[in-house]
Amino acid sequence: IAPSIHIDPARVIDQVDPRIYSGFTEHMGRCIYGGLYDPDNKHGLCHPKTGFRTDVMDVLKELKMPLVRYPGGNFVSSYRWQDGIGPRELRPRRPELAWLSEESNQFGTDEFIQWCREMGTEPYICFNMGTGTLEDALAWVEYCNSSANTYYANLRRKNGYEEPYNVKYWALGNEVWGPWQVGQMESQDYAKKAFQWAKALRLLDPSIKLISCGETGYADWDRVTLRKLTPVVDFHSIHIYTVSEGKHEVNVMGPAAAEKALEITRSLIDLAKIENSLSKQLTVCFDEWNVWDPVRAPGEKGAEEHYDLSDALAVAAWLNVFVRKADIVKIACIAQSVNVISPIITSPTGLFKQTTYYPLHLFSNLMLGSSLNVHVTTPSHNVNYTGPTVPKFIQDITLHTPDSTKLTRYVDVSAVLAITAESGHEIRIAIVNRSDSQEFNVPLVFGPNATVADAFTIHEVWHEDLKANNGFDGEKVKTVIKEGKFTGSYLLKKHSFQVLVFT
Ligand code: AHR
Repeated sequence: IAPSIHIDPARVIDQVDPRIYSGFTEHMGRCIYGGLYDPDNKHGLCHPKTGFRTDVMDVLKELKMPLVRYPGGNFVSSYRWQDGIGPRELRPRRPELAWLSEESNQFGTDEFIQWCREMGTEPYICFNMGTGTLEDALAWVEYCNSSANTYYANLRRKNGYEEPYNVKYWALGNEVWGPWQVGQMESQDYAKKAFQWAKALRLLDPSIKLISCGETGYADWDRVTLRKLTPVVDFHSIHIYTVSEGKHEVNVMGPAAAEKALEITRSLIDLAKIENSLSKQLTVCFDEWNVWDPVRAPGEKGAEEHYDLSDALAVAAWLNVFVRKADIVKIACIAQSVNVISPIITSPTGLFKQTTYYPLHLFSNLMLGSSLNVHVTTPSHNVNYTGPTVPKFIQDITLHTPDSTKLTRYVDVSAVLAITAESGHEIRIAIVNRSDSQEFNVPLVFGPNATVADAFTIHEVWHEDLKANNGFDGEKVKTVIKEGKFTGSYLLKKHSFQVLVFT
């Protein structure tokens, strides 16, 4: 099939929710300590009062993350939030059971909220549904959000924070289904417990948004929990990491399998609404996604992935999925945001931007507005999705999906119609060429009511070597901005990512 891209600005899927470009910071490895918080830094890189790394803040601000999830992840399932407030010298050190480390509690809820305020981002907090009780959860919401004359609201004031934090987003546990989780539960048990928690939490603060703990979006866990929790939650969370294990094609095709998972989630949500006779809005919070190979970068060792160009293309393909699914995915948090499986890596003397930083930056800055239903024809390739190295979820989905060849499409596209003060309407097209060997000359057909100027801008992420990566010694993979003259088609280099901006 010859590749082509047809774009009609009238074919709007939905508005792209900027919250799909959100982040995640967990007490894990060097994410918090030595990442965003480094009070002993000897190189002038932290704020003298707060201890926050100012270079990390500057770079994360460029990513314009509307929400940041905290404090885990697996960490939260044995976290006592009360340990992390009040005078620092009185905060207890505790054994940490998710990553088998120690938690000093020098950074806690108040520090996180201050960090969010300085970042201009909204906090999104996950409850401990492992060792934690409903009483702890209620106390946490009271501490953060209450303006009453009650114990935890007064404790916040005593700690120096007069005004309530008004934390809007709260998750009912993290990966409660996982055997690695402290306090793992069966789906029915979790659903019953989360339902009761939701009821009580809303009595305390009816304004909060609650997020149910889902699995992959297509698991039985999702079906069971959605059926019970639909009346009491606003979002259903999904976690999926794609893994390459060295195979470029599996790496870049993984997000397409996640897209199929999302289609199944949409149906499960519909089913749960029908079963509950409810027409409320309930959408997906994809609060952990990324490229992560836990063998290459084990969690217990801090999960410091070192990404190459292939991984950057996979991240771009992930983001294409979220833009195409703008009607169902309203929040997505890249996991994670500093050092741990992250687009930035710090050292005591500075930081560098990984290859994956660049597609994230392009999407969060450009791919906003109305998501367009683009028609793409493209060559595809039969990838062997079976075998010991291919992640189970990709095998599950591709082996049993009749249209699985769609998952192997080389030219992967999303597009938005954005309105800008300078140029009025802009059509922005994000294209990944997932082939590692072929370039494609792709006709771009606009219409029927769209005319575009000849001059357009190209934001390109590319390198001749698919394994090229970045480090403290320099960045081989980064965005290059060029001007183009439109003649009806665009030449896609092999293994490239670009955002084309037409006025
Ligand atoms: O992001 C790393 C870990 O991956 C999180 O703690 C957990 O929720 C997931 O399994």
